Amino acid sequence: MRETLEKIRKEAMEALASPSAELEELRIRYLGKKGELTAVLRGMGKLSAEERPVIGQMANEVRAEIEKKIDELASAAKGKAMEAKLAAEKLDVTVPGEPIRAGHFHPLALVQRQLEDIFLGMGYSIVDGPEVEYDYYNFQALNIPPDHPARDTQDTFYITDNILLRSQTSPVQARVMEKTQPPIKIISPGRVYRSDAVDATHSPLFHQLEGLVIDRGITMGDLKGALDMFAKRMFGEKTEIRFRPHHFPFTEPSAEVDVSCFVCGGKGCRLCKGEGWIEILGAGMVHPNVLRNCGIDPEVYSGFAFGLGIERIALLKYHIDDMRLLYENDIRFLNQF
Ligand code: PHE
Repeated sequence: MRETLEKIRKEAMEALASPSAELEELRIRYLGKKGELTAVLRGMGKLSAEERPVIGQMANEVRAEIEKKIDELASAAKGKAMEAKLAAEKLDVTVPGEPIRAGHFHPLALVQRQLEDIFLGMGYSIVDGPEVEYDYYNFQALNIPPDHPARDTQDTFYITDNILLRSQTSPVQARVMEKTQPPIKIISPGRVYRSDAVDATHSPLFHQLEGLVIDRGITMGDLKGALDMFAKRMFGEKTEIRFRPHHFPFTEPSAEVDVSCFVCGGKGCRLCKGEGWIEILGAGMVHPNVLRNCGIDPEVYSGFAFGLGIERIALLKYHIDDMRLLYENDIRFLNQF
């Protein structure tokens, strides 16, 4: 029995010197209930009374020795694992942080905000209108009956015969007048759509800003005053405006409005193509038929409306020569604003 114990100790120590199996497996093999040491202890009953305590003590020593070795190995392995974990998860809190890349407004949004600021400062409020619009508001209420030739220049995308993507922000005029009795003083910026092919100056989706003022005694003088102030705030104090006669079905009289070139001051340069003037918007006195269509008495009230293209203002302001740049989202272009 002594020899058996000696053999177990030797084998166990050898196995634990360079453990190839899992520690837990070795623990079970030597110390487990069905282990070799337990088998020896079970055989103790056959021993003589003198031998029993001696062998018993020896068996306990062997067990303690093996246990100690296994515990040492286990805690060494645990320490190693922790070291490896710490090395793998090393965090240098002194490394400078990743800069947070803040975005900024798109040039169109910048111009829209500037326009809104100017008109808010002149006492206008901002209203919204739907982009998916009834034919009625986009055309009929605005004095453009079915088959009117003015529809040709504003061909758009139809959802049904009666529902379309609005070709202008002017339908908001009709919607506001239907709901509100004067005084009315609003602007309405937003997307509009036309069935145009994309090129340097056209896009099937673009943005307009509509203006509408209705009250007792509003005249063309008020329109001129409002647009003059707007032009000076937008393009600089020296800017002049010029009205050219034009036709819109929903205004009478109507005008196209130019601003003096804010680059050359009117002498003629590349931006104004030698003209000295740059066209920026359409405007006029709201047609009595439109007032009537919307439940406002043209004998009592009058007003003016204007509509401008936000892209056009952005292109002019930033000297951009191709409208497509505004939609391509090329970060090298957008970074400049
Ligand atoms: N809606 C017109 C257009 O898109 C512009 C306009 C608006 C003209 C208001 C007069 C009054 O061309």
